Amino acid sequence: LDNGLAITPPMGYNTWNAFHEDIDETMVRESAEILISSGLAAAGYTYFNLDDGWNQKTRGLEGPMEYNSTRFPSGIPALADWLHSKGLKLGVYSDAGSMTCAKFAASLGHEMEDAKVFAEWGVDFLKYDNCFATWPKKMSVRKRYEAMRDALNATGRPILFSMCEWGVSSPWEYGHEVGHTWRTTKDISMEIEATWADVVENLDETAGLARFAGPGGWNDADMLEVGDPGGKALTYTEQRAHFALWALIKSPLLIGADLRKLKREELLLLKSREIIAVNQDPLGVAGDRVWKQGPYEVWAAPLAGGARAVVLFNRHVASDEKFDEHNMTLHWGMVGYPIDLEVMVRDLYKERDIGHYTGMMTELVEAHGVLALKLTPTKSVEGLDTW
Ligand code: DGJ
Repeated sequence: LDNGLAITPPMGYNTWNAFHEDIDETMVRESAEILISSGLAAAGYTYFNLDDGWNQKTRGLEGPMEYNSTRFPSGIPALADWLHSKGLKLGVYSDAGSMTCAKFAASLGHEMEDAKVFAEWGVDFLKYDNCFATWPKKMSVRKRYEAMRDALNATGRPILFSMCEWGVSSPWEYGHEVGHTWRTTKDISMEIEATWADVVENLDETAGLARFAGPGGWNDADMLEVGDPGGKALTYTEQRAHFALWALIKSPLLIGADLRKLKREELLLLKSREIIAVNQDPLGVAGDRVWKQGPYEVWAAPLAGGARAVVLFNRHVASDEKFDEHNMTLHWGMVGYPIDLEVMVRDLYKERDIGHYTGMMTELVEAHGVLALKLTPTKSVEGLDTW
């Protein structure tokens, strides 16, 4: 949506993957404090988004939805004020159906009154789900989402509109006109832990969609699984690959872990400054897969000033030790560079320059791992801002 929000992909926290509907004010306050004390907020993670479970199961016949005052005794408006006083923003969640997925009150047919109350409470972000969308039967997905877009617009408060309809109606085709982000995929984890296969599946479902993204509207491959829960299901190598690829495709960066249990290395990973800079690059062009041969893939995006972000990705199943690592070659032609262009190559995780290269370079990439690079031409050349 072209209203000044989500000029770059939103970053923050979402409660669903670690807590499901078991959320309350204590958990929110503790987690928000950690966002700040850990440096995550300063790194850009400023939205604190309540997912399913924050409101009441029912509402009166008339009137907006209400928050669960047992779980949120101070109330959502006070929580919004408190988050704002800490420099954070508040997100809530509803659904374009008769109930949310976890069977709490939803907004279909109540868009105007719900949007109005969200705005009055000081809400900054709405994730809008697609469960129990059985009524009215003739209304398309798009129309049900447009009804909430119009209601949010009518409040006059800028509220980031996160469409969560799981990619079922090709939302990327109309997403820019309706919301700020649109889910391209199923849930990244149906269980409490996502597997490597889940991560790769969501990535594959988002491949080829970069051209639909841009300032004000982004493909959303679902929440981050870094540290969720405690990083048991994904190895550290896999978490690094997941994070670099989500940053490159300019998916929202929404942490889904229990922040109170994050390991130090996971926290450092989430704060990787130069990877985040790719996600938030002012050129606002999403990365995509530009080359693939068997399990070896190159993902890339143009960055402001004619630079390139490149992720060399070895998705090989490490079934045979011989195949664990692989020498991957990046040719300039894969990223729209002339063959004779000299560039400085930088390792974005190590935050270190690797050296000058012309035309191509070869590096070892471990199985399920990535090498995340930035290529910067040593001389300025016209016309490199696009492919
Ligand atoms: C389905 C969504 O895709 C999830 O991200 C989460 O919001 C759940 N619904 C909540 O019920």
